[in-house]
Amino acid sequence: MSNKISLSEITSEEIYISRRRFMKNALQTTAASLLISSCSNNKNSTSQGDTPATIPDELMGSFSDENGPPATTYEDILNYTNYHEFSADKSRPTYLAQGFITSPWSVKVGGFVNNPREFGIDEIRNLFKQEERVYRMRCVEAWSMVIPWIGFPLKKLLEIVEPTSDAKYVRFETVFRPEQMPGQSNPSYPWPYVEGLRLDEAMHDLTLLATGLYGKDLTPQNGAPLRLVVPWKYGFKSIKSIVKNDLVSEMPTSLWMATGPNEYGFFANVNPFVDHPRWSQATERRIGAAGRINTELYNGYEEDAADLYNGMDLAVYY
Ligand code: MTE
Repeated sequence: MSNKISLSEITSEEIYISRRRFMKNALQTTAASLLISSCSNNKNSTSQGDTPATIPDELMGSFSDENGPPATTYEDILNYTNYHEFSADKSRPTYLAQGFITSPWSVKVGGFVNNPREFGIDEIRNLFKQEERVYRMRCVEAWSMVIPWIGFPLKKLLEIVEPTSDAKYVRFETVFRPEQMPGQSNPSYPWPYVEGLRLDEAMHDLTLLATGLYGKDLTPQNGAPLRLVVPWKYGFKSIKSIVKNDLVSEMPTSLWMATGPNEYGFFANVNPFVDHPRWSQATERRIGAAGRINTELYNGYEEDAADLYNGMDLAVYY
């Protein structure tokens, strides 16, 4: 599979069809570099730009939309979700999360930082320029999607709070609200959902805090109002509905590490050569497509992400 994402991989949603039509007619390039850089694995070309996205005609050839794999539709992204706070059944968070309150919402950022701070979600939307990033997402369960996120690099938020030299990791926490999240009454999991990144992973250009997808605000089942997206890692690292980010000195224990220490590691980099103890990771099922496709090392973001793990044995640090 090529590192480029074809338009047909993105989706068949109406706005993307009309955007493409628009792109063909326009020659502004700002946000075009965004789509291209997010998908081309060019380390030095982080996407920056304002919508509307536009791609010059001469670059349109890079986005073959005739022969690419079938699209992930907006419907599939909304209706096939993993959100254990609501249900372990992928179709149920869609309706169980209907009444989930996402406004007002605030996110506390603290720990080893010079400027601990609480951000309101509207403040976050205004402070940080929202960009579109089209990323593949590969779940540890061996299914995948291609999702056009709206968001901003996590590093922009971290730069404001200024991590101190003691900060080595970021620990993220999902809201704990059992009265609205029925799954949080399931004692099999150590709620709240916690995830973590090493500081350099958190500061990476591709690491996103997402506020929307398909040009619209996130829906509750997809992690509204704010979630993490780390495209080279298994999807469980991309924690939803975040209320707390702490800069810490020790590696955080995630919910999945605590639940299945032999099955889920801290790094969780997509790796087709290291099987899950219960299934192969060599291939994946692209939602909406027939058959299976080969899984790529670092989910195809090897050029961007591999340097973070120089000298580490990926079979040990899974
Ligand atoms: N975050 C929380 N808080 N709870 C979850 O159950 N599931 C994870 C991740 N983030 C999960 C979560 C898993 S396993 C995956 S694959 C992705 O969210 C799925 O994101 P999506 O449902 O938006 O496709």
